[in-house]
Amino acid sequence: MVQNVQPTETSTVRRGRPGGRRAGETTWVLSLAVIVTLYLAVQVHPYFRMDPAYSRIDLQFPLHYWLIVGHVVSGTLALVTLVLQAWPWLRRNHPSVHRWSGRLYVFAGALPAAAFALAMFPVAFAAGSIGMATSAVLWAVTAVIGWRRAVQGRYAEHRRWMVYSFAIVWGSVIWGFAIGWGWLLFSPWTVDFTYISEAARWMGWIINLIVAHWWLERTADRPLDLARPPKRAVR
Ligand code: HEM
Repeated sequence: MVQNVQPTETSTVRRGRPGGRRAGETTWVLSLAVIVTLYLAVQVHPYFRMDPAYSRIDLQFPLHYWLIVGHVVSGTLALVTLVLQAWPWLRRNHPSVHRWSGRLYVFAGALPAAAFALAMFPVAFAAGSIGMATSAVLWAVTAVIGWRRAVQGRYAEHRRWMVYSFAIVWGSVIWGFAIGWGWLLFSPWTVDFTYISEAARWMGWIINLIVAHWWLERTADRPLDLARPPKRAVR
């Protein structure tokens, strides 16, 4: 029996030492977790009340609120599972948790959240909405391709597509949020909000994608960090 563990790209495979923890990993994951928690606490929590009176968005039709809630619930799941997926220790020591949380990220997080975002597109705040819609499509597509590559045992490509997917959502949501608020707080009040919105809804995810691509190219020779032989095998 030949294990199909040869990555299709130039990377080699390194089996993780169970229990092994590398310098900086915990700090990296904790930082992600803190940022996600802050985002959920500040931006998302009103929608968990399930009461349209607390919507920050002007509701255009009765179903609009429930589209936002669907988007927010699946988006929250995506952000939480993203933190789990990016945690190298969990990947090495509990690969089945990584697989399940990956499926949740794709099918209960990214896909429905992107679909709800697209459904809101016609009534979304116009400035930057094309950038938002583009990022929604690319987010869903990269997540599905990343999942397919994992199922096919093409782990180097799986890593690449998932990093793109994380970069898009992270850039779209977190940087978009930070740029928008930062600009509002620190720029002269004369700046028209439509410019801010347009810039924030494009720049965040595009800059993140460029940085992610640069980082992937820079670390292309790094051995893949697999925990144990994958289940799928070519007989
Ligand atoms: C690429 C990914 C995403 C896209 C393209 C996207 C797109 C959108 C759009 C179009 C709206 C409606 C805005 C409007 O009416 O002007 C929205 C609202 C919202 N989204 Fe997302 N979203 C994404 C990911 C997420 C994620 C992961 C979360 C995490 C929970 C999230 C949380 C929210 C919240 C809380 C609102 C309401 C905003 C407010 O109250 O001001 N989104 N999103």
